[in-house]
Amino acid sequence: MAEIVIVGSEEEAGALVAGTVLGTIARRPDAVLGLATGSTPLASYRALAERIAADGVDVSRVRGFALDEYVGLPEGHPESYRAVITREVVEPLGLTPGLIHVPNGSAEGIETAGDDYEAAIEAAGGVDVQILGIGRTGHIGFNEPGSSFASLTRVKTLTEPTRADNARFFDSPDDVPMHCITQGLGTILRARHLLLLAFGEAKADAIAAAVEGPVTSSQPGSAIQLHPHTTVIVDEAAASEL
Ligand code: GLP
Repeated sequence: MAEIVIVGSEEEAGALVAGTVLGTIARRPDAVLGLATGSTPLASYRALAERIAADGVDVSRVRGFALDEYVGLPEGHPESYRAVITREVVEPLGLTPGLIHVPNGSAEGIETAGDDYEAAIEAAGGVDVQILGIGRTGHIGFNEPGSSFASLTRVKTLTEPTRADNARFFDSPDDVPMHCITQGLGTILRARHLLLLAFGEAKADAIAAAVEGPVTSSQPGSAIQLHPHTTVIVDEAAASEL
């Protein structure tokens, strides 16, 4: 059973996430972080950046792997997850850019990009702490309903609800890519500690399904029930269906 922590605000969640991540870095200065994009982890990244600056933490050896990336965005597109991770995580935290990996969503090399990413995670010794958000469809990373619990990093087609949710980041809904490359549920389950975050009523059903529902690939978030060390950090609204 996952540990459930109900917090009063995203900032409170951020402080908890920052504490967990900094504890890991204190034990292991070259810790491997699993990085989510989306709105949910932003307060946690801000809290981490503040603590790193205030405490003078040396993060120069910290490594990181993003969960996912869009396929086919032009290089340098501001909403590519490479750009988002650089802007929201690498720069504010002061991480070493060469140690932070994002799946390669460019057309060249896309056939081997999944295997290459799995090999890079394995070579790093696996992910110590994986930060996760969850989509309304129950997706984690971009593993939409139907994803196998054994799946590894691969190209997937985005569902229409997820494209619609992510349209807010683009000039027009038509600009949202059709495909993505995402760590699989199997990849995510190999991380040593999962931190699943969710805020707001729109996430309440997905959280209830993930935490208490049947373990089924039609609710990808329910994969967390197969993991021995998961912490779910939610506000009252996201916890309201538990
Ligand atoms: C996005 C990302 C996920 C994220 C989820 C929720 O599409 N690929 O990694 O967890 O959907 O997003 P948000 O945090 O913005 O609600």
